[in-house]
Amino acid sequence: MPSDSAPAHVPRHLAVIMDGNGRWAERRRRPRIIGHRAGARAVNTCIDFCLQHGIRALTLFAFSSENWGRPEEEVGGLMKLFLNALEREVDELDRRGVRVRFIGERERFSAPITRQMDAAEARTAGNTRLDLTIAASYGGRWDITQAARSLARDVAAGKLRPEDIDESAMSARMTLADLPPPDLFIRTGGDTRISNFLLWQLAYTELWFTEALWPELDAATLRRAIDDFARRERRFGLTGAQAAAMPKETHE
Ligand code: IPE
Ligand code: IPE
Ligand code: MG
Repeated sequence: MPSDSAPAHVPRHLAVIMDGNGRWAERRRRPRIIGHRAGARAVNTCIDFCLQHGIRALTLFAFSSENWGRPEEEVGGLMKLFLNALEREVDELDRRGVRVRFIGERERFSAPITRQMDAAEARTAGNTRLDLTIAASYGGRWDITQAARSLARDVAAGKLRPEDIDESAMSARMTLADLPPPDLFIRTGGDTRISNFLLWQLAYTELWFTEALWPELDAATLRRAIDDFARRERRFGLTGAQAAAMPKETHE
């Protein structure tokens, strides 16, 4: 992924937990699915912001491994919404130079949804303006487990020695391996937790939380997050003086 054009203080990769849809609807005495629908519009706000500010990779947490346990009606509504959004948005994303990919346990979705996911990925594979990754049926523990399983398979097949398994071998099997790790993480909805999002990849990510509910997301809130990010000193375990001497783009 080229890292030109963006000023050094702009995150290269932004990861977002889009939380608060249900509460947004409940406050309006509406069914939770109305909140999810409003949340789908906020996704566009976030994508527009990244395109305008030269953020080259955006990873959105849309549906967690644990979210399958929600009431059947909510899960069903979310699946419908997901399918509609895929059908509706992919043309425009493609036109705007967005490469779309999905991470997570894809097998758990219905065939019509996985077909749309495959088609969206194939259609946008050549785009380079923004790497958009949708984490759906995703869990950080699942990600680590599938990477471990993939390494174990190679060991069993005699292609890899256990002593060759190091952090970089593990990183290479994790999802998002071809992107720099997220520089900035944003969670809306007021809760200050990771909720099984990118556990491995967030090791040195700057975390930013806001009380704003996801459907309320606007450019001013995102602006505050990246302004705050720009003021932080990332030390990566080193001293402040060492960190200051390192060019920003060379970490990890
Ligand atoms: C996030 O909003 C969307 C999904 C998890 C699918 P929530 O549905 O979790 O909204 P709250 O947290 O209940 O308000
Ligand atoms: C995290 O939100 C998952 C997504 C936003 C997709 P949750 O609403 O599921 O997280 P918890 O339950 O508050 O931890
Ligand atoms: Mg929630």
